[in-house]
Amino acid sequence: MLDSMKTLLKEQYSINISAIAPQQGGWAALAYKATSESKHYFVKVYEKSRASTAKLTAHIDRYVPIIRWLVQNSQLEGKISVPLLTNDGCYKYEDEHGIYMLYDYIEGETIGDRELNGKQVRQFIAIITELHRFGAEIPFASGWMKEQFDVPYTDLLQKALSGDIGYMPDEVRRLLAAYELPLSRTINKVKELSQRLQAGELKMALCHTDLHYWNVMQQVKSEQLILIDWEGLKLAPVEADMMFLVDKPYFNEFLNVYRHTHADYEIHSEALLFYQKRRLLEDIWEFLEQLLYEEQGEHTFNYLTKELKAL
Ligand SMILES: Nc1ncnc2c1ncn2[C@@H]1O[C@H](COP(=O)(O)OP(=O)(O)O)[C@@H](O)[C@H]1O
Ligand SMILES: [Mg+2]
Repeated sequence: MLDSMKTLLKEQYSINISAIAPQQGGWAALAYKATSESKHYFVKVYEKSRASTAKLTAHIDRYVPIIRWLVQNSQLEGKISVPLLTNDGCYKYEDEHGIYMLYDYIEGETIGDRELNGKQVRQFIAIITELHRFGAEIPFASGWMKEQFDVPYTDLLQKALSGDIGYMPDEVRRLLAAYELPLSRTINKVKELSQRLQAGELKMALCHTDLHYWNVMQQVKSEQLILIDWEGLKLAPVEADMMFLVDKPYFNEFLNVYRHTHADYEIHSEALLFYQKRRLLEDIWEFLEQLLYEEQGEHTFNYLTKELKAL
């Protein structure tokens, strides 16, 4: 595997790798650190054997040109991570095992579970404020990434509630039954909000849509914060990103700075509620799906319980 990746990097990217080692990756893909004579690279591998891969990699060829353009045409240069091109000028390489993306290695730390310090907060605010300056006027087709306010898992969740999706362990059945009322209320609320937001003409901007701190790194030398993992890029009401910020201690500071660029911005509370509740339902469905169709993890059961409590 590692040797074949060396060959792949040589053939597809013309780089000579002397060492390659697995790295702690994220949820979606495997990660490797590859070392050449002159520098380090970060290789992200979406395995074809994983169900999530098709969905997560479907838009690579459409979102990468946009973030590359942003690097050239905004203040985001050096603040977002952008894949390197293959010899053929492609944004990814694909073989029968997976889909590969190559990045410069960021020498630094992932913020992860920690909090941002004051300087990091200011950098984080600046990145999001800058990103939201851009919308449908960018010189790229953006229809494919426009928010449709879909609510993909609600039917399956409703089926699960009515015991209509085949075998379910007793423990899981009892858990769902205990939260039936709040769960079905939330499903109905999200559906209602979805329709209202579809009908409304909300202003939309480029949004990252996955702004947790595992997608935020800090480069050691420059101390610059870098926002990574752009596969969720969307043209959406900015509340798609605000949902990650509203509970932060620096949110008021955020709004003050944000309004210098985005004058008179006010939170659209329905859009915010939609994103918060939709995310909860998505997480609940994903944990439930794992419990039903994959390994029966005790952790998964506890995660599911926690999400249901948050309804
Ligand atoms: N260019 C990079 N250099 C070094 N580490 C990186 C780089 N990109 C990502 N990482 C690390 O790998 C982790 C997973 O990467 P990410 O792109 O978020 O993958 P996933 O889509 O699986 O969440 C990040 O949390 C970060 O710790
Ligand atoms: Mg990530």
